[in-house]
Amino acid sequence: MRNRVGVVGLPDLARHLHGAGYDVVTADSFRSAAATVHHTIAAEGTFPVLVADAGDAFAPHTAVARWVAGAATAATVVVVRLAGAAQFPHPDTVTAPLPVSDLLARVGLAHEYPLAGRVEPSGQVTTPPVAPTPSSPAALVQTPARVPADPPVGAVAGGGYRAETVLLFAGKGGVGKTTAALTLAQHAAAAGPDGFRVTLIDGNRGQGDVCTYLGMYRAPIPTVYDIVLTGDPGTALVTPSQIAAYRDDPTRAQFALAAAPPGDAARSVPATAYSSVIEHARQVSDLVVIDTQIFEASDSPMWDGVFVPLLMSGAFGMGIIGGSATSLANLAERVRALVARGVPAEHLMWFLNSADGDGQAVAQACQAKMGADARCVGVVRRDPQIAAQMSSGHLPVDNPDLRRVAFTALSAITGRTEFAPVPDAPRRRARFGRRRAS
Ligand SMILES: Nc1ncnc2c1ncn2[C@@H]1O[C@H](COP(=O)(O)OP(=O)(O)OP(=O)(O)O)[C@@H](O)[C@H]1O
Ligand SMILES: [Mg+2]
Repeated sequence: MRNRVGVVGLPDLARHLHGAGYDVVTADSFRSAAATVHHTIAAEGTFPVLVADAGDAFAPHTAVARWVAGAATAATVVVVRLAGAAQFPHPDTVTAPLPVSDLLARVGLAHEYPLAGRVEPSGQVTTPPVAPTPSSPAALVQTPARVPADPPVGAVAGGGYRAETVLLFAGKGGVGKTTAALTLAQHAAAAGPDGFRVTLIDGNRGQGDVCTYLGMYRAPIPTVYDIVLTGDPGTALVTPSQIAAYRDDPTRAQFALAAAPPGDAARSVPATAYSSVIEHARQVSDLVVIDTQIFEASDSPMWDGVFVPLLMSGAFGMGIIGGSATSLANLAERVRALVARGVPAEHLMWFLNSADGDGQAVAQACQAKMGADARCVGVVRRDPQIAAQMSSGHLPVDNPDLRRVAFTALSAITGRTEFAPVPDAPRRRARFGRRRAS
């Protein structure tokens, strides 16, 4: 089974990995965890094992060293050296403190998504502090008391973020925000350079439907609600493998996901939980894509508390015009208000969706209305195939219009050549006449 890992003598790490979607084989005490790992390997095959070089009253360190030596014949065993522990010799030993993602890399499990968090010499796992957004005076979601003062794992030097962030937004419902967010995230993850990590956040608190569109409605995965329970934003992230386990689409989702809370639970999730998971995702990803709920003229906790501050602090916004006059007027008004509040116009873009015909005339009218407040990144024509794919759990990644818009936006956001939009394939003409077969 992919993502299975045995954890012995490191209960905090076991909880951390479990929360992040790993299939953790463990048990409460050192001794029973060792037995469980042993029996599971015998019955179901090998998987990597992380062991503390400590024991407990029932497993003194000589017994631990013996067990580790035996287990290493059946599995990759990495010993995590903790403070004051026995320090028995083992060829594959790492010493705490060390980042959880380094530990996972050591056993070949970190390729997919780096986890924030650090294993301390005490065996505890600390997570990066959660920065409140500029306009939220105090984070309602408490971070664990053991949070260290060190810089967050994955944060870039100088206190900035590793990830660029883009929000999909509209002043009207049903215009294609979620469709665009999913395709943007998938194209970015698929075409990005090796190891380019993308996280999609379903920021539609009340009616999040990313999971539905992924064909995994009610899949038993963590959601943003888990942050309320654990105080740890990392627990809300679902890895691509975890997503794959619940989907039939041959196009494997290649992004990590923070899913919307289920049904009624949305009411218990404060906007600050979203701020915390976005901050967390920005530290462990290269790109964060956020699907939002309708951007209304009147105040809303999600827009005023989370999304506007994010745009004001450097995120990109991609507005969607659904073709109708009201959709255009609403978006133009919201964009103007954002620019008036200090969001740089270079960070705001828009596209026309569900256009009839080639949409060029309507796009020009939109351009006239939007002026210099935001720039156009393209037109997506109405295509029943998009709706058919979305309603049957398939990602519409083969749609050329959506692809072109995604790449245009991605190259503006990231400046990476991998996303340079490829012009529509011209009818290729052979440079030299092709020899005929006969
Ligand atoms: N270019 C298109 N052609 C045809 N159908 C489309 C196109 N873009 C989106 N759709 C369809 O329109 C419907 C609404 O799209 P979507 O759910 O992405 O909108 P939304 O803005 O996220 O809606 P909400 O406000 O409810 O969150 C979906 O069925 C989707 O498949
Ligand atoms: Mg939506």
